[in-house]
Amino acid sequence: MHDLLTMRSLDSAQVAHLLDLAQTIKQRPSAWQHYLQGKSIALVFEKPSLRTRASFAAGINRLGGHSIYLEAANLMGEREPASDVGANLALWHDAIVARVYSQATLDELAAASGKPVINALSDECHPCQALADLLTLKEQLGDLSKVTLTYIGDGANVCHALMAAAAAAGMTLQVVTPEGYEPRADLLAQAQQVAAANGGSVTLHHDFKQLQQSDAIYTDTWFSMGQQRDTNQVMHDFAPFQVNQDLMQQLGAKYFMHCLPAYRGREVTAEVIDGPQSLVLHQAENRLHAQNAVLVELIAGVTA
Ligand code: CP
Ligand code: NVA
Repeated sequence: MHDLLTMRSLDSAQVAHLLDLAQTIKQRPSAWQHYLQGKSIALVFEKPSLRTRASFAAGINRLGGHSIYLEAANLMGEREPASDVGANLALWHDAIVARVYSQATLDELAAASGKPVINALSDECHPCQALADLLTLKEQLGDLSKVTLTYIGDGANVCHALMAAAAAAGMTLQVVTPEGYEPRADLLAQAQQVAAANGGSVTLHHDFKQLQQSDAIYTDTWFSMGQQRDTNQVMHDFAPFQVNQDLMQQLGAKYFMHCLPAYRGREVTAEVIDGPQSLVLHQAENRLHAQNAVLVELIAGVTA
């Protein structure tokens, strides 16, 4: 592994290895406190963030490294090309963590810097989130190949990463979207192929009728950052897809998951997200541990 640009770039063995490493680091953080000593990592964010920014900064600190945050809303593209940003950052930093609008920006940063680049969310996917989500499910349910997860909502970046991660782990993933909000067809087809090779499945649905019972239900905001959509139309189209207690019961779901930030009363009711079945804070906590596994693997060059 040189970069983490997409979730689909990781094969089944790499995903399993990163999850094991994350659990190892989580269990004994003190053993890993010098792995990034003397290393500097640039956090370059074109969009707002709470969890990703704060968990990377804290996680890098725990590994003995240093990070700087660069507010990049008007930095790449308008002020100078992403390739110049990457080439310059590589002069002083050992890796780049970047939250961008376009996946192509990550490719430019990686090509120009030659340093490891980690996707902190793009229009295509959110691999750090998906790794933390799988870590959370593994902790709660054990063998991921026996887990059935239902994702309900927008077929966007979080869904794309989850499809690739679930496929690599041989999970059963049911994706349910309103018509017109499906995940990218090429990413779905690829995930279906990978899932089949790993004994799992990824299926697309537009209603709840044919769904299998699920261990967990996952949803994401109906309004992703940077999307130009008509608010009233989105509210209308997504209304039947709200995750509420009735749906949790209908699918026999033990757990509820959400990457956050969440909008109570839209994609999920307060009763569900703030109730005992919610794993959202476990997911958020695991962002740090999953990302530290990625950092150790990419920057410290350790294969534990
Ligand atoms: N889940 C997630 O990536 O949260 P932030 O947007 O706050 O980083
Ligand atoms: N789909 C959301 C995820 C936020 C973590 C977005 O892109 O805004």
